[in-house]
Amino acid sequence: MASTCVVGLQWGDEAKGKIVDLLCDQHDAVVRYQGGANAGHTVVADGVTYKLSLIPTGILRPGTEGVIGNGVVIHPPALLKEIETLAAQGVEMGSRLHVSDRAHVILPYHMAEERLTEESASAADHLGTTRRGIGPCYKDKVGRVHGVRVGDLYHPERFREHIERIVAFKNRLLLAMLPDYEPIEAGAVAEEYLGYAERLRPYVRDTTTWLHHAIGQGKRLLFEGAQGSLLDVDHGSYPYVTSSNSSAAGIAAGSGIPTRHIDRWIGVVKAYTTRVGGGPFPTEQDNEVGERIRKVGREYGTVTGRPRRCGWFDAVAARYSARVSGSTEISLMLLDVLSGIPELQVAVAYEDESGRKVAEMPGHLSDLERCRPVYETLPGWDSDLTGVRTWSDLPVEARNYVAYLTKQIGVPVSIVSVGPERRQTIILGNDAPRV
Ligand code: IMP
Repeated sequence: MASTCVVGLQWGDEAKGKIVDLLCDQHDAVVRYQGGANAGHTVVADGVTYKLSLIPTGILRPGTEGVIGNGVVIHPPALLKEIETLAAQGVEMGSRLHVSDRAHVILPYHMAEERLTEESASAADHLGTTRRGIGPCYKDKVGRVHGVRVGDLYHPERFREHIERIVAFKNRLLLAMLPDYEPIEAGAVAEEYLGYAERLRPYVRDTTTWLHHAIGQGKRLLFEGAQGSLLDVDHGSYPYVTSSNSSAAGIAAGSGIPTRHIDRWIGVVKAYTTRVGGGPFPTEQDNEVGERIRKVGREYGTVTGRPRRCGWFDAVAARYSARVSGSTEISLMLLDVLSGIPELQVAVAYEDESGRKVAEMPGHLSDLERCRPVYETLPGWDSDLTGVRTWSDLPVEARNYVAYLTKQIGVPVSIVSVGPERRQTIILGNDAPRV
């Protein structure tokens, strides 16, 4: 056993891509198990910025294989474009990319269906999604009748008939509900997707079997979560979540690999909190502090470019998601962004409007919306951290902040990141603060 998972413990964008990239050397394959092109990973290596969405970050290392598991939803033109963009940057997939034949396919009507709710007259229906058709595709997956899997694209006659029936249904629905809807032509969509399938053919296989063989050969797998645990459809801030199990709970279902094969469970958090899209965010700072974090941390969505909502570190939320995702160690990201803020606040509990303490993350939206954070204030530091490479070189206030978060989350910090580059990383050993 030497497999690892790297999962975000907040609302996504925790800079997981950098940690996955750092750990690639110690693993043979990186596996995506949920989500789709709603995810965005930015990796900076040797001054070159790579943006990945569907393709596992591991592909940037020449010897590492990348697996897009059955739990992922795939928009074939997005995947092909990503393959081409990376090839233009000198990253060739060759036979290193493996795409599951059981993964579901995003089709043009999924984007239209997403508009039904995201552009509806009632703001209460807007979730602030990435508009990549993720939710509607997962709906069709669990609804079964209209689901299309990658493997279906290699049975053209059956696929054409299936698309004919689906598109007739979707057109009727969408014409009735969306005033500006242009009906989709089933034949054209079928041929377009059959064309994508030919181009993807070299990569498509039964990835579950492939992964089990890899384990049998002693290969080490790195499971890369997209989004964060608080966006998990079951365990996150429902309904303001994504449509998949983005916590570690999704690994077994989305890859076919039982989690007993994993022995390193890394939870990734930022030194503060961000969120894109709608939904409750108790520690949000819609003020100068939030503005400053957004500016210094360049907190704009990788996929949509939307400004991210920014706020203080929420230890109640991180404690909860570290439990759900089984984290045994924490990677603390973007600590450098907090330099120059005189006092830092950390939410250690919530209270409701009557001042009653709420120690745990509430499951219901109304309860979470009513929560106000109870803060502990810690002294900040002035100096720039981006050049620091060892724990002892961090200013004492920064070390105290990390030690405080360790105690609050209840899980040791093993990595502190002080910039986007691989080398801007502090690996903690015996010097790590105790829980
Ligand atoms: P969807 O995944 O596009 O359906 O969007 C659902 C919610 O998840 C929205 O609030 C999105 O902003 C959020 N979301 C989806 N993917 C990401 C991500 O990679 N990072 C951060 N938030 C995300």
